[in-house]
Amino acid sequence: MPSLLTLPLELLVVVSTHLSTKDLGFLRLTCKQVEQSLYSWFAGEFFTKKQFMLTHKSLQTLIDISKHGRLSKQVTHVILATNMYQAVPHVPYTFRDADAATSWAQGVYDQQSLMSTGYDRDMLTEAFEKLENLQVVGIRDFNSNNRHRDGTSWSSWGAPTILRETGIELPFASSQVSNVATSFLAHIFQTLIYALARAGRSPREIEVLLRKEPLPDSAFHFPAFLTPSVTPVLQNLETLLISTDRIPTHNPGHSSINRPFLCQFLRQTYNIRHLRINFNKYQPGYTKVFLEWLGQPAVGAGAAPIRILDPPSIALTHLKKLELGQMAIWPSYMLKVIEKFASTLKDFCLWKTNIARPAAHSNVTVDFLNSLADMRQLCLTHFKLGFLQQDGLFIGFKNRGLEDAPYDKIREYTGDNMSHFIRGLINDIVIQQPGRSYVDDSDDSDDSDDGSNDEDNEDSDMPDEDGDSENDEFDEDSEDE
Ligand SMILES: *[C@@H]1O[C@H](CO)[C@@H](O)[C@H](O)[C@H]1NC(C)=O
Ligand SMILES: *[C@@H]1O[C@H](CO)[C@@H](O)[C@H](O)[C@H]1NC(C)=O
Repeated sequence: MPSLLTLPLELLVVVSTHLSTKDLGFLRLTCKQVEQSLYSWFAGEFFTKKQFMLTHKSLQTLIDISKHGRLSKQVTHVILATNMYQAVPHVPYTFRDADAATSWAQGVYDQQSLMSTGYDRDMLTEAFEKLENLQVVGIRDFNSNNRHRDGTSWSSWGAPTILRETGIELPFASSQVSNVATSFLAHIFQTLIYALARAGRSPREIEVLLRKEPLPDSAFHFPAFLTPSVTPVLQNLETLLISTDRIPTHNPGHSSINRPFLCQFLRQTYNIRHLRINFNKYQPGYTKVFLEWLGQPAVGAGAAPIRILDPPSIALTHLKKLELGQMAIWPSYMLKVIEKFASTLKDFCLWKTNIARPAAHSNVTVDFLNSLADMRQLCLTHFKLGFLQQDGLFIGFKNRGLEDAPYDKIREYTGDNMSHFIRGLINDIVIQQPGRSYVDDSDDSDDSDDGSNDEDNEDSDMPDEDGDSENDEFDEDSEDE
């Protein structure tokens, strides 16, 4: 008689994909043989990529996994989510009962002490030491939606328990809900990097995907006394995705040579191949100072003493892929940067950017595209652009042969006839007329306006290097149990 045990493994896996996580647990408990045949598939689905947060329970789970002989090897991607307790939860709130309120209050103080004693860093270090296949570490402030099982999104390990116990969802750090969100984010980033350093672990990729609140520039400050420890981590990075915007706090507002700490940081990531930076289009000063610096000629090591507030620019001789988003910028700054990296750059993405006109009447977007097409040495094989504006007016692209079709907001090309593609763009470009609403049926304009929700941060929107996309299929189980 056919039974679960006589089913071929592929069928068993298919059957089990229809189960909820709980029922899958029961199935795995039914017998040793089922458990063993499903094991590697199960470990692949649930342990390849995992999301934790800064609570003792969550980090203890990470340590437990890292100590597990087989599961530990499965983990390649660890995410720290920015779930953050607040002394007073964001209104409107009411605790269900006294137990819920107590549980929340305890969580607040526990998280504060976890961070202020450095215990979080110790725990991360302990886990990282054992996660020998770790390749990607990330920080994010959203739950991934691509979870098929259970019809829910993945959340940080431990978050569902807190919701159950307190009736309140542990929110992600943002200035809207907490006035210390910014220092919380800086803490997470610095703790993550320093824990990697102490564990002697050098993942090839760091992905900071923040939609609610970007990293403050101060997060990138690793002073000289930390340089020897963090340098091995930074110089091994191949991919760095970040989201930052804060006007540097060290800039008292009267000196034009003060650079963001990000500049200093990037001097140590000189092996990166892929750099993505999302700025904040409402903080154009930061973007401008940064891009101006990035576009300057590199100064070799040892050529001049390094001034921390005005470090010399960098070479990034391996840079292949550059993605810039959420800017309000004159194209000359972008062109300088692209020109500098032209000999290695193969892939450029420009996203949710307001291209500002230096002078009225200039057709700045067309000029910018022309300059790209004509740039000597530049040989892009992938170019993607989307949700652009010119002086605040939306840019669309006509669909040739489809007069009534809505304009494209995203265009993308992969291949070796880039100048042909760019000429096509120039042909199709439509700039919204002042005072007339954009011919458009979607709500993306809202998005561009609030500046905080950058969907481009989503892995699927800004495609990652080959192979990375498959991580999205695995994804993490971050439920309890
Ligand atoms: C800018 O270029 C677009 C597309 O080529 C064209 O339709 C428009 O008239 C130009 N505007 C100016 C001011 O030259
Ligand atoms: C690019 O494509 C256009 C149109 O298909 C073609 O006329 C042109 O010769 C191509 N150029 C190269 C270098 O392949």
